Amino acid sequence: MRKKIIIGNWKMFKNGEQTNAFFENFQEQTSTNLVVGIAAPYTNLHHLQSAKAKFSTMMMGAQNCHFEAQGAFTGEISTEMLQDFNLDFCLVGHSERRTYFNETNETINLKMKALLAKNMMPVLCVGETLEEFESGQTLAVIKTQLDEALVGIESISQVVVAYEPVWAIGTGKSASEAIAQDICKAIREHLAASHGQQQADELLIQYGGSVNNDNIVSYLSQPDVDGALIGSASLDPLKFVEILAHF
Ligand code: PGA
Repeated sequence: MRKKIIIGNWKMFKNGEQTNAFFENFQEQTSTNLVVGIAAPYTNLHHLQSAKAKFSTMMMGAQNCHFEAQGAFTGEISTEMLQDFNLDFCLVGHSERRTYFNETNETINLKMKALLAKNMMPVLCVGETLEEFESGQTLAVIKTQLDEALVGIESISQVVVAYEPVWAIGTGKSASEAIAQDICKAIREHLAASHGQQQADELLIQYGGSVNNDNIVSYLSQPDVDGALIGSASLDPLKFVEILAHF
């Protein structure tokens, strides 16, 4: 049986003091069927590393990386540098990065490979815009995002996929459980065709987009939705703990 995986994506929120305050008020979940992670801004990664001493089962991650090991890329951080913080995972291809920072499927693919080479789990975000959703292109868009992000990657055993419809992120407009299930199932079927049934059956697929305490149970009770990527509802430690306590 696949485990559940819930990751908080803090985006560009919290300084060091606020990060420490989060962990002072956070309670680790003891359920062995649930994996919990936090993806924090770079400047908080050393706080996450310290928190790991107390919250040993939690996965700590970054929200972005550069694909080169080093070089003249002002302002960028390599996967090798991320390793200094003993990170478990890194988000890749979040729609905010695709939209505001011109991230392409090609650079996402390079980042995926760079992370896998350093044994960090990429959480590959895919999802369609409102326009694409309304014109019935959701599946075509997602299949292209998956195919191009996974070029040359034969094993997806260390990969998590997050389906996040762009129109549902930070808008308070979540997709219905039926949409989340349909698309997560389609992702699994598509990857079964490219990577084999076993890898697809074992793959953890999250839904993301305005997930909160009121809707998480209905999403995660869908057979192909294995978890959630949560933005705003992960910022308050007490609210996040409340969400995790369902599992
Ligand atoms: P949200 O963000 O939960 O605030 O909609 C989700 C995400 O962007 O990962």
